[in-house]
Amino acid sequence: MNYDEIFPKIISHAKEYGFIFPSSEIYDGLGAVYDYGQLGVELKNNIKTAWWKAMVQMHENIVGLDSAILMHPTTWKASGHVDAFNDPLIDNKDSKKRYRADVLIEDQIEKYNQKSEKDTIKKAKKEGWEPGSTEYNGFLQNNRNAQKAQEIQKQFEDALNSEDMLQALYDLIIELGIVCPVSGTKEWSEVRQFNLMFKTQLGATADSAMDLYLRPETAQGIFVNYLNVQNTSRQKLPFGIAQIGKAFRNEIVARQFIFRMREFEQMEMQYFIKPGTQMEWFQYWKEARMKWHQALGLKADHLQYHEHEKLAHYADAAEDIQFRFPFGFKEMEGIHSRTDFDLTQHEEFSGKKLRFFDHEAKESYVPYVLETSVGLDRTFLAHMSNAYTEEDVPTAKGDMEQRIVMKFHPLLAPYKVAVFPLVKKDGLPEIARSIIDELKFDFNVMYDEKDAVGRRYRRHDAIGTPFCVTVDYETKDDNAVTLRDRDTMEQVRLPISEVRDYVAKKLSWREILG
Ligand code: GAP
Repeated sequence: MNYDEIFPKIISHAKEYGFIFPSSEIYDGLGAVYDYGQLGVELKNNIKTAWWKAMVQMHENIVGLDSAILMHPTTWKASGHVDAFNDPLIDNKDSKKRYRADVLIEDQIEKYNQKSEKDTIKKAKKEGWEPGSTEYNGFLQNNRNAQKAQEIQKQFEDALNSEDMLQALYDLIIELGIVCPVSGTKEWSEVRQFNLMFKTQLGATADSAMDLYLRPETAQGIFVNYLNVQNTSRQKLPFGIAQIGKAFRNEIVARQFIFRMREFEQMEMQYFIKPGTQMEWFQYWKEARMKWHQALGLKADHLQYHEHEKLAHYADAAEDIQFRFPFGFKEMEGIHSRTDFDLTQHEEFSGKKLRFFDHEAKESYVPYVLETSVGLDRTFLAHMSNAYTEEDVPTAKGDMEQRIVMKFHPLLAPYKVAVFPLVKKDGLPEIARSIIDELKFDFNVMYDEKDAVGRRYRRHDAIGTPFCVTVDYETKDDNAVTLRDRDTMEQVRLPISEVRDYVAKKLSWREILG
């Protein structure tokens, strides 16, 4: 099965096994809003824990925060979101569908990139080139479709940086002959700006009500608390504040499952630094964040850096870490050098000093900020895509069958161990339950006695449980169990007393983050 084709399978697998459900599904759902089911919430929590561990608990100079979603509305005036947090939208006059103009162009580039990859695979087969060889890479970068993608990329960057960006994007869509995916026509409206923030109201009566916004990023909660945290934690520069929380954006194009949602979660860290040191920290955090993604098992050749075509209003450098989703390389995390923009703006709008007194230099200044901002839901989708595997495996009878196995990193897997009694009688369930009672203090474990053991293995492959432990008749004599590895399907016989340590070794933070 080709990687590009697994996306619909991932979506149905996520629903079938309780990872992700459409929100309020009994009322036909709500566009681009999703609920995490019983397995999804475990996987999501495990990703959060891995991030918190790596960012907060492994750094003496990074502390956590949990700020409110609702903030004083002036926050968003100061941050620039009221005036500049816009997407360029375009309508198709025939289908009445609305699109992001930049996304239509990016999709066009992706189409050429995918064609280029297909051509390269075909040519490599014919010529006998190995993937990654000089000939292979040369052809991949220089074939007709790759060149076309590069040419459009250049035109796209020029359009984004042009004085009349909206007109330039419109002109490029027309020039490229992009058609509406629904109507198939080129009847486009002009390109307009659309603010992405959701509005709500605080207060009971219309007269006394105050217009508020649901936060579109968690970062501003960190900026407005900079002084509170700095004073109470007595941190010196450089130091960071990290938080995980919900963000809301009224996305025009809501699609690609949980890739672009209207309600999503971010894991953000603002690193407050001395002005002038931002490029050094930019490099440091780019590398540290890439290492974290790889340590949790995302394939190195599915990860790449991508420089921003156009810098946001607050940044003097910005790069994304992109993951190769089944629909192409797309942004998963942003590393942004935000200068002193946010704190200076909040100083101006609040009238409060947001400075750091540098005892060495004997001066006070507004710190610069280096931000790492990763989407929790996109990281989740990356791990679902990375893990989803279809394999032909031999059955107990010796014929072949297909298994779907979610090869999550053991640390992220919703359940770490499933314990099976071979049969539901003769005291085996009691032994299995006693193993569960022992392991549950350390790991998320599941007892499973339904169906034949082979069926139980398949069920746990499908949800990514890395270890299955079977209690059989011999257990009664030797106090040992069979432990089966999800990925290799190899089985080892272990004393019950060693199971805990065996699993713990595979989940060691030292091994993963050391
Ligand atoms: N504080 C900076 C900031 O918010 P961003 O690039 O707009 O920067 C950071 O967002 C990350 O949040 C993205 O890399 C992405 O992973 C995630 N993200 C942004 N919009 C999203 C959406 N509509 N749905 C899911 N994740 C989103």
